[in-house]
Amino acid sequence: MKRRTFVKSVGTAAIGMSSLKLLPESAQSASVRDRYALDDLRETPERDNAFWELVRHHFPLTRERAFFNTGGLGASPHIVIEAVRKMIDELEAMGEVGRSQRVWDSIKEKAGQFIDAEPDEIALTGCCTESMNCIANGLPLKRGDEVLVTTHEHVGGALPWLGRARRDGIVVKTFKPGKNAAGTMENMTAAVSKKTRVISVSHITCTAGAVLPVREICDYARSKNIWSVIDGAQAIGHLPVSMKDIGCDCYATSGHKWMLGPKRTGLLFVRKELLDSIEPVVIGAYSDAGWDFDSGVEYHPTAQRYEFGTYNVPVMHGLGVAIDFLSTIGMEAVYERSHALAAETINALRDSSEVEILTPLGENDFASIVTVRMKNMDTHDLQRHLSENYRLRTRYVAEAGLNALRISIHLYNNRDEVHRFIEGVREAARM
Ligand SMILES: Cc1ncc(COP(=O)(O)O)c(C=O)c1O
Repeated sequence: MKRRTFVKSVGTAAIGMSSLKLLPESAQSASVRDRYALDDLRETPERDNAFWELVRHHFPLTRERAFFNTGGLGASPHIVIEAVRKMIDELEAMGEVGRSQRVWDSIKEKAGQFIDAEPDEIALTGCCTESMNCIANGLPLKRGDEVLVTTHEHVGGALPWLGRARRDGIVVKTFKPGKNAAGTMENMTAAVSKKTRVISVSHITCTAGAVLPVREICDYARSKNIWSVIDGAQAIGHLPVSMKDIGCDCYATSGHKWMLGPKRTGLLFVRKELLDSIEPVVIGAYSDAGWDFDSGVEYHPTAQRYEFGTYNVPVMHGLGVAIDFLSTIGMEAVYERSHALAAETINALRDSSEVEILTPLGENDFASIVTVRMKNMDTHDLQRHLSENYRLRTRYVAEAGLNALRISIHLYNNRDEVHRFIEGVREAARM
């Protein structure tokens, strides 16, 4: 590689940023800082009902209905929305993209701390599906190699593999998640064959909200020389997550669900030892450490190699602010509160003869998603009933043929809303 003759694409694209000294601090104007600063949260040590009501004030989310669809799309707090808005205004006034190394480093630093990974192991992407595509298309797989996934994957975690199967003849095999960690491990290991090269599972299923034993799965995969891929769209921002603890090879997530970030944001984690094994397949500006037509391209030494072209920098900056927001509250506290409300919901409904709870019941097998189905009522009718009579935004679950109804409980939901759901389902059971 003739490094000196390389076109410095990153440097070229960053021209003009030096005049933008204001970024990113100025992305929050004084008035916005005053109204939505996190000081009130920082200064409140208790995590009691009053605290969560304070948290709720940080969201423009309507109180006209209870929003239980964070698993589909999270609501952003004011501080995130205003940060994005302000940065767009500034950048549009200057006609700049706004991607400086300083802005990028700061987002990745925050993301790294949030998921317990090195900043260099993180790429900023547009969504979880994009991250999954980077992995599924980048791994060195050949015809006949098997990828093992659960029957409960979301379309965004399944299609990247099925697309690779169409193009390159890999084989996608499935197994059912069990009712608990042991059941899942049993089903998974029974499905592993000599040809299994990848195990790709959701951290938390989008269907029943089952928390899969990802650490055990990754330990097992490592012991068999199998790559481990985790789709964490439903997990990051939902419960505390550590890449180091899980020990996965790759992890994908959305920024616009439980992380409360702006729409069209996501993260891709690739363990640093694997960067050279997972080929970046969509590349352009920023993917490289340098390139020319004689020597070709040298990839960026970090996970930045999976990033390419022009970004919407304000939304990525907003994702960093969303991480600040969640970190200020503390992910342990977020999880404990939402999980307690989910447990309360399950306990209130589990004895009803008309209600089937599809969410696994073990304390560590579910988090803050509850999925139910009625024996006496069609699920679409149940959803309509809860929407019209109880003002609840729920989500229909078609995946894995479940025909069920899911609620995602996050930090802006409160006990009254959860009880509205319980009451609505109980009433449906009497219909
Ligand atoms: C498990 C899982 N993976 C992937 C996705 C897709 O997320 P995105 O639209 O951010 O790509 C979802 C969305 O609900 C999901 O639940």
